[in-house]
Amino acid sequence: MSNNNSQNKHEIVEKNVGLMAILTVFAISFGALVEITPLMFQDDTTKPVDGLRPLTALEMEGRDIYVREGCYNCHSQMIRPFRDEVERYGHYSVAGETVWDHPFQWGSKRTGPDLARVGERYSDDWHHAHLMDPRAVVPESNMPAFPWLDENRVDTTHTLKKLQIFRDSFGIDKSSDRYDGKGYGSDEELQADIAKIEAMNDGKGATEMQALIAYLQQLGTHLK
Ligand code: HEC
Repeated sequence: MSNNNSQNKHEIVEKNVGLMAILTVFAISFGALVEITPLMFQDDTTKPVDGLRPLTALEMEGRDIYVREGCYNCHSQMIRPFRDEVERYGHYSVAGETVWDHPFQWGSKRTGPDLARVGERYSDDWHHAHLMDPRAVVPESNMPAFPWLDENRVDTTHTLKKLQIFRDSFGIDKSSDRYDGKGYGSDEELQADIAKIEAMNDGKGATEMQALIAYLQQLGTHLK
């Protein structure tokens, strides 16, 4: 019977674990490719949003402190497109805001609130008080304090290299005015920006606290 014949073929797959595994992997990979590949070629997901500008030297150092201190263990930076999230945090995150964010800080663990749009929501003084002692401003907070950030000075040994790697790997247009409205790119411009960190606090240099706050204050402010 012809019916019998096709049943037998099915049995070949069902009774052969190795073959079944290979075909399963193939089916899932194919499905994933169909969903993911187009995203790699869409301007929406690969191009920076219009208002996006590279981080300043101070913000860049602040970002590294954010990563070093493990803030991402409790804070995500990705607002999902759901009503409860949008009402609480603001416009949902779009891919073009984080195309330059490597490693990205999206995260999924929220012991604390999402920080994707925390920029400009509080004053610098609020952040300072909060990071020194979260319970001083939010009594029920269980966020740890980070008082050493106020003592440590930003180490600028590698800042130029970091800014250069950033510029070159993302092909930032050297003549663009995305950076401070003055263009981004020549080594002199980058060095002048680093000199600002060193000049802060009467030449003693910026504290890590100041760098971290500068980073926080620009989060999510680029989407127009
Ligand atoms: C152990 C978890 C934990 C870690 C680590 C942590 N936080 Fe928090 N964070 C919280 C919690 C919980 C809150 C909510 C209570 C509060 O505001 O203090 C919070 C609140 C905040 C807020 C206020 C957000 C808002 O919208 O009100 C900011 C800003 C913030 N954290 C920044 C940081 C930074 C920067 C770091 C790293 C230096 C950090 N947090 C590390 C748990 C954490």
